[in-house]
Amino acid sequence: MKIAVVGTGYVGLVTGTCFAETGNDVICVDIDSKKVERMQRGEVPIYEPDLDVLFERNQRQGRLKFTTNLKEAVDASEIIFLALPTPPGEDGSADLKYILGVAKDLSTIITKYTVVIDKSTVPVGTAERVHAALAENLDESLFDVVSNPEFLREGVAVDDFLKPDRVVIGTDSAKAEEKLRRLYEPFVRSGNPIIFMDVRSAEMTKYAANSYLATRISFMNEIANLCEKAGADVDAVRRGMGSDSRIGKRFLFPGVGYGGSCFPKDVQALAHTAGQHDYQFRILNAVMDVNTKQRFRIAEKLEAHFGDDLGNKTIALWGLAFKPNTDDIREAPALYTIDRLLEAGAKIRAFDPEATEHVRSIYGDKVTFCEDQYQALEGSDALAIVTEWAVFRTPDYDKMKELLKEPIIFDGRNLYDTDRMRENGFHYDSIGRQAVEV
Ligand code: UDX
Repeated sequence: MKIAVVGTGYVGLVTGTCFAETGNDVICVDIDSKKVERMQRGEVPIYEPDLDVLFERNQRQGRLKFTTNLKEAVDASEIIFLALPTPPGEDGSADLKYILGVAKDLSTIITKYTVVIDKSTVPVGTAERVHAALAENLDESLFDVVSNPEFLREGVAVDDFLKPDRVVIGTDSAKAEEKLRRLYEPFVRSGNPIIFMDVRSAEMTKYAANSYLATRISFMNEIANLCEKAGADVDAVRRGMGSDSRIGKRFLFPGVGYGGSCFPKDVQALAHTAGQHDYQFRILNAVMDVNTKQRFRIAEKLEAHFGDDLGNKTIALWGLAFKPNTDDIREAPALYTIDRLLEAGAKIRAFDPEATEHVRSIYGDKVTFCEDQYQALEGSDALAIVTEWAVFRTPDYDKMKELLKEPIIFDGRNLYDTDRMRENGFHYDSIGRQAVEV
């Protein structure tokens, strides 16, 4: 099939590349001409595992192209995906100016039947607004607007796209349904479903799924905080809970709060949508409140340990990205930790395998950025861990003790076994487990 993808951010690029991988002809459009030139030269503008291999192959074989010319892409396509940013406005609502702007442009460009698909996370009712924008200059027989939310996780997005748990498609058009069924069939050979529904329900599904997952995380963070006080171990509690098939094992890990480009934004936007419908979504307000506090959990533990002394301390920080296998630092708990520690006057020696440059562009030389995790420990008074990169999981404990001034670790991701840390002589304080004191 012939496909255009408008917007080559994270979602657009993964979507375009993966559709090319199943043999479709894909043209990706972006207004950023420098970025388009780079992609035309074969450069992948984001870090996402496996994307480079698929990108190179499909570009080389001529199925994946890039342009700044919307008309060129639309003329060549029967399906247009809109993968445009929806930044949160001041009131928490999603700002639709990019999507509606492109819809307006499309209304003067489309000349044959085209399916226009909202891929971005957009509030309930957006497809109707896109429809209205298109209908201003176009006959309604020439287009259908479909909602097809993405459920990609950064770091495993290619795999999530190629092998989705499910594909959700909101449409009331049999013609559009048929096209999308054909387009997605190669991805659900394993038997996972393509779930067709009305447009508004598809839009709501994305917010409901992300908000539910964020709720699970905030719930577990509260259980963890209570475990610390009540003398329980959240790891044991998590395993005990997760073995119930109604609950399930995944997404029950407490930590330093959820971050990233989706959960914080989507929970806020759904709360805002609720407000617009005169409904107070109490759980979501609590989820946001818990998360706001949890992001400071490690900084708070450091403050409690060092007290007023924190101003004279150097803290090693392992992990800056909001989660492993990405260089994305949007809403990263590490940034909140850094702000709080700098405010207290502490010095920071930070290391991250991928995200250093992004963080350096914010803090400059206010933070010392290190080449590897051990360098961050040199002369530091304590180690704080905020991202669970695999490379942190089996460290050389002797080397750590040699480099740190004191063997003190605050672990926001529960990477290590507490008994092992006791045996190795560390002061070890993690999330929801009893601290090991030395
Ligand atoms: C999420 C959704 O998973 C995805 O379906 C949606 O399309 C976009 O948002 P992503 O933001 O890439 O994906 O990351 P995810 O792996 O879901 O983690 C989100 C945040 O929750 C991270 O900050 C992570 O550290 C945190 N998290 C996740 C926990 O604190 N505990 C968990 O058990 C799981």
